[in-house]
Amino acid sequence: MFDQKTYSNRRTRLIEQLGEGLVLILGNVDVPMNYRSNTYRFRQDSNFLYFFGLDQQGLAGLIDVESGEEILFGNDVTLDDIIWMGPQPLMSERASMVGVGRSEPFDRLADKLSAAKAKGRKIHFLPPYRAENKLLLDQLLGINPSKQQENASVELIKAVISLRSVKEQQEIDEIERAAEVAFLMHTTAMKMARPGALEHDIAGVVEGIAIAGGGMLSFPLILSVRGETLHNHSHDNKLEKGQLLLVDGGAETAMHYATDHTRTFPVGGKFTQRQKEMYEIVLNAQIRAINEIKPGVAFRDIHLLAARTIAQGLKTIGLMKGDIDSAVDQGAHALFMPHGLGHMMGLDVHDMEDLGEDYVGYDEEIKRSSLFGTGFLRLGRRLQQGFVLTVEPGIYFIPALVEKWEQEKKFTGFIDYDKVKSYLGFGGIRIEDDVLVTENSFRVLGRPIPKTVEDIESMIH
Ligand code: GLY
Ligand code: MN
Repeated sequence: MFDQKTYSNRRTRLIEQLGEGLVLILGNVDVPMNYRSNTYRFRQDSNFLYFFGLDQQGLAGLIDVESGEEILFGNDVTLDDIIWMGPQPLMSERASMVGVGRSEPFDRLADKLSAAKAKGRKIHFLPPYRAENKLLLDQLLGINPSKQQENASVELIKAVISLRSVKEQQEIDEIERAAEVAFLMHTTAMKMARPGALEHDIAGVVEGIAIAGGGMLSFPLILSVRGETLHNHSHDNKLEKGQLLLVDGGAETAMHYATDHTRTFPVGGKFTQRQKEMYEIVLNAQIRAINEIKPGVAFRDIHLLAARTIAQGLKTIGLMKGDIDSAVDQGAHALFMPHGLGHMMGLDVHDMEDLGEDYVGYDEEIKRSSLFGTGFLRLGRRLQQGFVLTVEPGIYFIPALVEKWEQEKKFTGFIDYDKVKSYLGFGGIRIEDDVLVTENSFRVLGRPIPKTVEDIESMIH
C-alpha cells in the first residue's frame, strides 16, 4: 500500500472535480468458484484500490463531495473469522491506514444512502461489472442491474479517468517492479521453447513466476503456437520445429499494478527465412510507432503509422499491392492486423476498461473509427505526460477471415489472395512493450526483453 497521504490526496482531487452529491466506490467481494467457501483468487476493484488502497473483500467507501466527510464501510471480524483467517486489523485501523476518519459496519451504508436519497441528493457510482455488486447496487439504490450502466455517473467516470490516466512516479516504479517479473516470465518461456515441449508445461512455469513475484498474472496467459488466434488461452499443443510460439503475458504486483508484453519466437531458437521476413516487418512497425510517442500526438495517428508500416512491408514481400495509404484508409491491412495498436495500462492491464473504452481512449476531438480493425483501437486520443500504454502491432494469418474476405472479393486491388493462402498455417506474430509518455518523449518501461532476431536467437541457444 502507498502512504495514507496518497489516498487522501487522490480523494481530495476527485472531490475538486465534482460539484455535488455523494461518491460511492464499492470494493469487490469473494466470489465462489464451485461452492460458497471455495472462492476464486480475490481481486480487489481497481477504482477502490486507487482511492481507498485496501485489498480486503467486503468494503465500500463513501465520500460526501459537499461536506468532505469520508466513511469506510465494512465489518470487523468475529472470533470465528479469526480462527480461520488469523487476527485482522479493526475497521477503524484499516480506515486510518488510508487516511479515512470514520468507519462504520457495512449494513449502515444502506441507511446512509437512503437518507441522502430522501433529501434528493445525487449519488455518483461507477458502472459495476460483477454480478455481486450489481445486486448490491440494486439493493442500495433501487436501480435494476439492466439500468445501472446508463445510470452510472458520467461526471464521476470522467473525473476518475482524468486522475488514473496520469501515473504518479510511485505508480511507475510499481509497474517497473512488475516488469522485472515479466522479464523472467518471457525469457524463461523462450528458453523452454524446445521441440517436443508442451505448451501447458511452459504456461505453468510462466504463471508460477508471476505468483513467485508476489502477485499474479495480470490477465489469463496467452501462450500458443496458434498465435493467429488473438487471445488464445488454450495450451494444448506440443511444440514442433518450424513453429512460432506467441507468448502474451503480464505480471501484476502485490499492489496490482500490471505489465503486458508479447514476444513471438521460433521453437528451437532459429527463425526460418520466411518467419524472419515477417518478424522484421512487425518489429519495424513497433519500433517506428514507439519512436513517435510524445505528449500531444494522437495515438490513433501512431496506430495508422504502424498499420501503414505493416502494409508497406507486406507489399514488399508480395502479399499486399497498390497504394498503401489508400489501403490503410480503407482498412485492407486489417486482414493481417485486425486489432488496435495498444491500450492504457496501470492498475488494470486494459486500464479503466470497466469505466467504458470510449471514455478512456477517445474524446470530443478524436472519435472511434467504424472500420473493421481500426475500430478495435482502444486508445485514439492525444497522449499526455504520465500516460502508460502498450504498443503491440501484429501480423496474423487467420484462415476463416482470409476465406471470408476472398469469397467476398474484398480489397482485391490491395491483397494478393493466392500469395496470402500460401501462408495459412504460419500462425501469428505480435510484439508488445509498455511505454511511459515523458515530458517530451517516451520511455520503454522495464528491463528490455529480447526482441531483435539476433537477441532472441542468442537467448534461446
Ligand atoms: N495482452 C492482451 C491484450 O492486450 O488484449
Ligand atoms: Mn496488450
